[in-house]
Amino acid sequence: MEASFSLPTGLTKAQSYEQFLTDYRLLLEGETDLVAVLANTAAALREAFGFFWVGFYLVQDKQWLSLGPFQGSVACSRIRHGRGVCGTAWAEERTILVPDVDAFPGHIACSSLSRSEIVIPLKDHYGHIRGVLDIDSDRLNSFDSDDQEGLESVVRALCQHFYE
Ligand code: SME
Repeated sequence: MEASFSLPTGLTKAQSYEQFLTDYRLLLEGETDLVAVLANTAAALREAFGFFWVGFYLVQDKQWLSLGPFQGSVACSRIRHGRGVCGTAWAEERTILVPDVDAFPGHIACSSLSRSEIVIPLKDHYGHIRGVLDIDSDRLNSFDSDDQEGLESVVRALCQHFYE
């Protein structure tokens, strides 16, 4: 397996996600351990896109998400259903893009440096939420519809591999 996920310069954002996805499918191939893949997914996304914080929160029970594999500084270990951006993405079963975390009611500030973020739910074959991918930036307005589409494709590949 090619271990480097660094992207060539000069690609558009959409092209970068396309290239990432090609390499990412190889990383998924033949690996059946969820924690190992989530850990490598966080590392690969951080290496390719330089995200400030990238990681997973996994559904623990009806009320709580627990911190899963991530890259970045120490984060909140639990998030309640419907709380913060992650808990809201879980409750509303949809991607949430937050251009300015200070303008999001109930945002959970694990790091005071976090300024914008995107959270994508992980859905299984039945459409049940198994967790979320949470990506934070230390700049305002970091994520747009290209990021949303690209990251939703990454999460779709991950979920098809594990949950279908
Ligand atoms: N952004 C999250 C909290 C988790 S940390 O930022 C890593 C939220 O408000 O749900």
